[in-house]
Amino acid sequence: MSTERTFAIIKPDAYKSGYTGRILARIEQEGFTIRAMRLTYLSKREAEGFYAVHRERPFFGGLTDFMSSGPCVVLALEAPDAIKKWRALMGATDPAKAEAGTLRKEFGASIGENATHGSDAPETAAFELGYFFRGMEL
Ligand code: CMP
Repeated sequence: MSTERTFAIIKPDAYKSGYTGRILARIEQEGFTIRAMRLTYLSKREAEGFYAVHRERPFFGGLTDFMSSGPCVVLALEAPDAIKKWRALMGATDPAKAEAGTLRKEFGASIGENATHGSDAPETAAFELGYFFRGMEL
């Protein structure tokens, strides 16, 4: 299995609730290397650009309002099979359906406020990493 990078966000709900440290500890315990990390505060426009693939979805307005409602932590994570591995650690999008031991089960409140984000495919990871990090930061 080759080393891969994925993009992750500790979302505004998790940051505000003081879960950042616990989520970072899980990231390290599970064997990811943190290649880049930044605390940021997205504007509505930046959130819309990031989630542009969802612009036709009914939840787009609420999602981008929420993602621009407070600070979040953006990360570049590296591990063998990082994309799948990070999605497994996060659990299902809806915390109510997420398995025990996953981050969304432990820290997420609802499908909208679900604590973490992760890229779903190599192409998405490339776009999302590039949206937040310059090449020299990685
Ligand atoms: P995320 O992995 O960041 O990708 C898109 C986000 O849209 C998703 O997590 C959810 O937090 C959010 N979202 C809000 N409502 C819905 C919904 N009804 N179905 C799927 N995703 C939703």
